[in-house]
Amino acid sequence: MSDKIDYLLEDIETITPSPEFVAASPVPTDLDERAKADRLGFWAEQARDLHWHTPFTQVLDWSDAPIAKWFDDGELNASYNCLDRHVLAGNGDRVAIHWEGEPGDTRTITYAELLGEVKRAANLYESLGVTAGDVVAIYMPMLPETIVAILAAARIGAVHSVIFGGFSADSIRQRVEDANAKLVVTTDGSFRRGKVLPLKDTVDAALDGGGASVEHVLVVQRAKNDVSITEGRDLWWHDEIAQVSDEHVAKAFPAEQPLFILYTSGTTGKPKGLLHTTGGYLTQASFTHRTLFDLQPETDVYWCTADVGWVTGHSYLVYGPLANGATQLMYEGAHDFPDLGRWFELIQKYGVTILYTAPTAIRSYMKTGRKIPEAYDLTSIRLLGSVGEPINPEAWEWYREVIGGNRVPVVDTWWQTETGAVMISAIPSQTSLKPGAAQKPVPGIVVSVVDEQGNRVDPGEMGLLTITEPWPAMARGIYGDRERYVETYWSQFPGRYFAGDGAGVDKDGDLWLLGRVDDVMNVSGHRLSTMEIESSLVDHPFVAEAAVVGATDETTGQAVVAFVVLKQSQADKIAATDPVSDLRSHVAKDIGSFARPREVHIVDELPKTRSGKIMRRLLRDVADGKAVGDTTTLTDSAVMSAISSGMAQGS
Ligand code: WT7
Repeated sequence: MSDKIDYLLEDIETITPSPEFVAASPVPTDLDERAKADRLGFWAEQARDLHWHTPFTQVLDWSDAPIAKWFDDGELNASYNCLDRHVLAGNGDRVAIHWEGEPGDTRTITYAELLGEVKRAANLYESLGVTAGDVVAIYMPMLPETIVAILAAARIGAVHSVIFGGFSADSIRQRVEDANAKLVVTTDGSFRRGKVLPLKDTVDAALDGGGASVEHVLVVQRAKNDVSITEGRDLWWHDEIAQVSDEHVAKAFPAEQPLFILYTSGTTGKPKGLLHTTGGYLTQASFTHRTLFDLQPETDVYWCTADVGWVTGHSYLVYGPLANGATQLMYEGAHDFPDLGRWFELIQKYGVTILYTAPTAIRSYMKTGRKIPEAYDLTSIRLLGSVGEPINPEAWEWYREVIGGNRVPVVDTWWQTETGAVMISAIPSQTSLKPGAAQKPVPGIVVSVVDEQGNRVDPGEMGLLTITEPWPAMARGIYGDRERYVETYWSQFPGRYFAGDGAGVDKDGDLWLLGRVDDVMNVSGHRLSTMEIESSLVDHPFVAEAAVVGATDETTGQAVVAFVVLKQSQADKIAATDPVSDLRSHVAKDIGSFARPREVHIVDELPKTRSGKIMRRLLRDVADGKAVGDTTTLTDSAVMSAISSGMAQGS
């Protein structure tokens, strides 16, 4: 891997922050300097920005590496930090959430009100026997109650496991069972493009014959669709909440109290439950949120468009903004419902000042044209953020010009479920911005781009991103599987974290993220495993073999393209159906609709090396419509020409 990337050695014009932006910024100008002088002291100082019931005296304990302990002898409560302390400081009347439902109904919730709801929910959980360390699974759409359900768990030291609302019953069951969840919180249904998705039915299917650890299911009423209630197990949230007190004292928990588990896809078929704990996570989530978004909590209206079911929702919709006392917008529905102007209408209506979204959304608006955003007043915006996948310079420029009126900074933030919070980004008041680059490690973060032997690469060379020092928000392992954690992230370069991403450094020392180097796809900013989709496909009775690749997609970054070999023995049954559409639906049903392959190609054989490994690289070239590369290690290169010519005929 000594590939050169020419543009990293070229002169790239940067955009310096405007003097007005710099003058108004609350972000200290010496963060990086302080972090470089005393890294642990710097993080301790950021941690002291939180409220500690018991102050810590230790900063980092790395003796059990790679499982870190941060601020280990301190005690705090995450929910107290997100709510009580703002109310006690006299900011109870500040709006925490401007919520807008897809049908257009709205709710405005102040910090004092949110605290009241969280206290009730904490009492409710306790009355159901949930105690510190128990796992609460949350399968919910974008409702204020989702945040309440999360913070109530944190308040009593329980561990939340949020399952994105697009996941299937099987995926829910797998997650509930892996973590032995005791309680599930869900809704009757959720609105999506005017239709009702029956979430409770999906939970019922997940718990039918599985999930034996679940004692209760709490059901928030949202869509008023019919649901079946299992006596003794299922309870309506609104009935129960009405019966409990809104007094609840937040107890102190150790800094390393588990806060949440969040599952993400890796290179194997089984999703990994990353475990995050309290003190370090909250420190870095809140520090990065206020620093990288230049937060002015009294005046900003912040909007992160991510779903709460992904890590971006955890760190930058729940913990970061609430710990910082921000006012934010939360929107329930689809960006294109009832029409493509919806997001811009919301920005105009609520006067959004900071927008944090994904390149895939930006590219989809680029496709539909600037006329749509230009029909709205977006002048309230003063900062734009990007996350989830590499942002190409064209999309960066368009974002800044059309959404940001050519005035505002754009920060591209690189991080992962595993890192818990942003690791690489510009600081908008301090960094000269470079379209397409994530640029700088966050103060207090140390990274190195290396070759396969672990040697630092020269500027302009393609390398691998590693993180060389432990950081506060790092995962504390894969839930229940330390070995797998060590093996997956810490074995390629002993003593260092390997992120799975390719990267390069340019001649100015800025970092460029270049996408995954493993069998992980990134579709619309969602992480998908090729193996997971392949194993779903081979579970189908028609399929003998399957290979999945992430093809290049103009809008979604990558798209799932599957190649399958069908079973001869099933030929009669297959002839009577539409196997391509069957298989696409099968994956959607098995994993979730976001995993539905864009294309399924039926082929006679898959290209394999002599040792029997599927050559996905070749299939990726075919899916991208490129000339097929070197096939010398292939068992039979005729396979590739057969596949390529089949594709050309549009099979
Ligand atoms: C993977 C992590 C972290 C938030 C959402 C995704 C890719 C994320 C960027 C970026 C280039 C990015 C990486 C990473 N990624 N942000 N700014 N530039 N790539 O979280 O599901 O844990 O996925 O997303 O490939 O490894 P995730």
